[in-house]
Amino acid sequence: MEDYVFARVLHVIAVVLWIGGVAMVTTVIIPAVKKMSSKEDQIKTFEQIEGRFALQAKVTTLITGLTGFYMISVLDAWDRYFELKYWWIHAMTLVWILFTLVLYILEPLLLHKLFKKYVKENPARTFSIMHRVHWILLMLSLITTAGAVAGCHGWFII
Ligand code: HEM
Repeated sequence: MEDYVFARVLHVIAVVLWIGGVAMVTTVIIPAVKKMSSKEDQIKTFEQIEGRFALQAKVTTLITGLTGFYMISVLDAWDRYFELKYWWIHAMTLVWILFTLVLYILEPLLLHKLFKKYVKENPARTFSIMHRVHWILLMLSLITTAGAVAGCHGWFII
């Protein structure tokens, strides 16, 4: 039992650090960078901050996934993936897959190069597209978090 509770504690701490970081980047850092007058400062500042957070996010998403699947296996709850009322389990898994794909594959292999190319050509447009994407990911993650807490404690919205 302790192992399960410990996994759950780790799960929530990892989500707090991860999604809390996404919220900071979306609501504070990108708006501040967008206000900077020089394009060079914008790119340098954003790359320094996002670079550091990307490493942290890789660690916390990994911990979230490992503890999440561990809990599913302890609960023997794989059949929840076939029940709509457990939409929050689907949402957790989808949000995790999305971020893991971006952090471990798309960002290092593609997105970083694209960012560097387009931000030099049109910084305002590039930062506004990136800002919109961060808002969508943040909203998805917050809805998922709300659904998971409600569902875990017996409040089934669907
Ligand atoms: C592979 C990905 C994930 C899996 C397999 C997973 C699995 C789980 C499981 C099995 C539980 C406990 C369910 C229960 O007690 O009935 C749980 C709780 C929770 N998960 Fe996830 N999760 C994953 C990713 C995420 C993500 C991405 C978020 C947030 C964006 C998240 C947020 C939460 C929260 C807030 C709880 C509730 C904790 C509590 O109230 O004690 N999880 N997760």
